[in-house]
Amino acid sequence: MKVTVIGSGYVGLVTGACLAELGNQVFCLDLDGKKIDCLNRGELPIYEPGLAEIIARNVEAKQIQFSSNIQDAVAHGDVQFIAVGTPADEDGSADLKYVLEAARNIGRYMTDFKVVINKSTVPVGTADHVMEVIASELKISGRSIDYSVVSNPEFLKEGVAIEDFMRPDRIIIGTYADISGLRAKALMRKLYAPFNRHHERTLYMDVRSAELSKYAANGMLATRISFMNELANLAEKVGADIEHVRQGIGSDNRIGYGFLYAGTGYGGSCFPKDVQALVRIGYQHQTDLKILQSVQAVNDSQKIILVEKIIKRYGHDLTGKVFAVWGLAFKPNTDDMREAPSRTIIRELLLRGASIQAYDPVANKTAENSFKRDFNDGCEELNRVKFVDTMHQALVNADALVIITEWKAFKSPDFSLLKEALNNPVIFDGRNLYEPEDMTAMGFEYYGIGRSTNLLNS
Ligand SMILES: NC(=O)c1ccc[n+]([C@@H]2O[C@H](COP(=O)([O-])OP(=O)(O)OC[C@H]3O[C@@H](n4cnc5c(N)ncnc54)[C@H](O)[C@@H]3O)[C@@H](O)[C@H]2O)c1
Repeated sequence: MKVTVIGSGYVGLVTGACLAELGNQVFCLDLDGKKIDCLNRGELPIYEPGLAEIIARNVEAKQIQFSSNIQDAVAHGDVQFIAVGTPADEDGSADLKYVLEAARNIGRYMTDFKVVINKSTVPVGTADHVMEVIASELKISGRSIDYSVVSNPEFLKEGVAIEDFMRPDRIIIGTYADISGLRAKALMRKLYAPFNRHHERTLYMDVRSAELSKYAANGMLATRISFMNELANLAEKVGADIEHVRQGIGSDNRIGYGFLYAGTGYGGSCFPKDVQALVRIGYQHQTDLKILQSVQAVNDSQKIILVEKIIKRYGHDLTGKVFAVWGLAFKPNTDDMREAPSRTIIRELLLRGASIQAYDPVANKTAENSFKRDFNDGCEELNRVKFVDTMHQALVNADALVIITEWKAFKSPDFSLLKEALNNPVIFDGRNLYEPEDMTAMGFEYYGIGRSTNLLNS
């Protein structure tokens, strides 16, 4: 099938690459010329394990192409995926300007039947909005062409995006019930047929239910995280260990283990903005989503929980203190720094006078760019952040280690080397990577999240 993907970011590139791998002819469009140049040089503008290999193979086989030419992109695909960003607007609602611009371009240049697929995460009612925008473009130029809009939200996780896309738990397809909607549904069934060989993974529904399902999924996952973070803070007070509690409840198959880790709060390009957008949708429909408002508030305070522990240990003035930081990306296996807790934590430490020696296996560069945006480029605080090339370099002459992202490489370090490199054997572990008893036995002063043996409990 001929497929166009509008927006070549995390979701667009993975969608395009995987559909090309399955034999479709894919055209990836992006208006960011630098991204397209980078892709056409054979480089990837993002880090996502396994993606480079699939793209290289399909470029070679001429199954995928990258371009900024809107007219060619619209002409190419029978199906047009919209996979552009939907960042939070000032009031927290999803900003649809990129989605609607993409829709406008489709309306402007289409010459035959198109299925327009909203893959971006969008509020309920956006498919109607996209239908209207295309209709108005057609009207302006006096053309009458059939089309239909489909809601096909994406559930991939950065870091394991290829696996998620190729072996999804489910594929949600929301279509309209009219004749064009039925035609669109048939094309979607054909496009996704390879995913349903072993068993049917596709759930067909109306567009509004599909749109709401995506927000509901992220809202639920974020709720589990905030619930555990809140309980972790209580665990510290009552002398319990949140890791035992996690296993105690996760083993109940009505609950399950997923998304129950206490830590430094959720970040990334999805949970923060999607929870915010869902609260906003509720507000617009006179429905107060109280649980999700609390989820957000808990997450905001959890992002500074490590800073509070550090202040409790060293006081408010951190001038002259050097902290080694392991992990900057919002989660492992990605270089994505959007809403990463590391940004909040490092900012708070810098503002109190500390210096940072930071290491991330892949996100040093994106982190540096984010910090330049967070602090005005050239300001004094930025001079106190040093990005280093190895985990060990970060430790040398640091007063303590702060772990923010749970990269595999951090899980079993050589603790004797670690102790030797640090000025003092102190670890603030925002991901509970180690056992408090083991750390104490090895002579470390160890602070986890919600662990009963924390020395700072009071
Ligand atoms: N990143 C994830 O893990 C993830 C997972 C599921 C769903 N989503 C959703 O998917 C959508 C895309 O997210 P992302 O992380 O891939 O975003 P991204 O910012 O990485 O990529 C979006 C791309 O769209 C391009 N773009 C913007 N307007 C355009 C236009 N009119 N024509 C062509 N290109 C245009 C931008 O230049 C950018 O490269 C969002 O709605 C997001 O919420 C993201």
